[in-house]
Amino acid sequence: MKKAFVTGFPIKHSKSPLLHGHWLKKYNVDGTYEAIEIDPKNFKDFLYGLKSDGLVGGNVTLPHKETAFELVEKRDEAAEIIGAVNTIWFEGDILCGGNTDGYGFSANLDDYAKEWRSGKTTIILGAGGASRAVIHSVLKAGFNRVHIVNRTLSRAETLADRFGDRCVANPWQALPELLNECDLLVNTTSLGMSGSDSSETPMPDLQCMKQSAIITDIVYTPIETPLLTAAKSQGLVTVDGLGMLLHQAVPGFEKWFSVRPEVTHELRQTILDAVS
Ligand code: ATR
Repeated sequence: MKKAFVTGFPIKHSKSPLLHGHWLKKYNVDGTYEAIEIDPKNFKDFLYGLKSDGLVGGNVTLPHKETAFELVEKRDEAAEIIGAVNTIWFEGDILCGGNTDGYGFSANLDDYAKEWRSGKTTIILGAGGASRAVIHSVLKAGFNRVHIVNRTLSRAETLADRFGDRCVANPWQALPELLNECDLLVNTTSLGMSGSDSSETPMPDLQCMKQSAIITDIVYTPIETPLLTAAKSQGLVTVDGLGMLLHQAVPGFEKWFSVRPEVTHELRQTILDAVS
């Protein structure tokens, strides 16, 4: 029996056990996937004890992603570029860490708006951990101008420096003048989630966007965020964030259980029922 996990602090809201549980059953795998809450002060012991606890690997979420990056013995290219680890596995006795968030982001757009790869200019709202994964993806897809727009300009500048000349940092106020050139608008902030304060960061008016523009939000609670509602009312192509969650889980499941699982409508509906 192969045992995998997701760890975070807190972890009880994670949808990953439901997602991986669906695949374990569907593919008749002799394995388990469980949520394990670990206090940051115990994370190192947990990670270095995986093998002796009989765990084959798992997912790491907030606030452990950067610590996992520091502690693993080997990292994949995406983790190296993004600076965080969300997936752990073993190669022999070597503790390996990867990052599949960027893969999940791209695969979701490939599913619902294939044409996104021919875009040239993108705007990414936000400069946190999720933004780093998205920037990695859009650069890999060939975008030649990546505008990072953030409430706190200095965080956008840090990311623009990290990711190189195709990236430009902008304050929130620059949004109106950037929108008309934009092929892909991505929200990685909590803007529009219930309880978020948007007094300094008003929602952009999307009226001046190209009709071919694609709007996506990595937030999936609610499934249709205010940004997506606004985009739909302008007749723009929209992609919600749930598919990113589903797709980012694929490479881990394959590593631990040796089956490459499929993201299906049935799986999407199962998770949707659980989040709504
Ligand atoms: P994550 O890892 O999920 O990206 P994070 O590192 O906490 O989380 O980053 C959150 C992002 O959402 C940041 O870009 C943050 O902006 P600041 O850097 O200015 O804090 C952004 N954010 C949070 N609340 C926001 C709001 N009400 N309006 C606009 N941006 C917001």
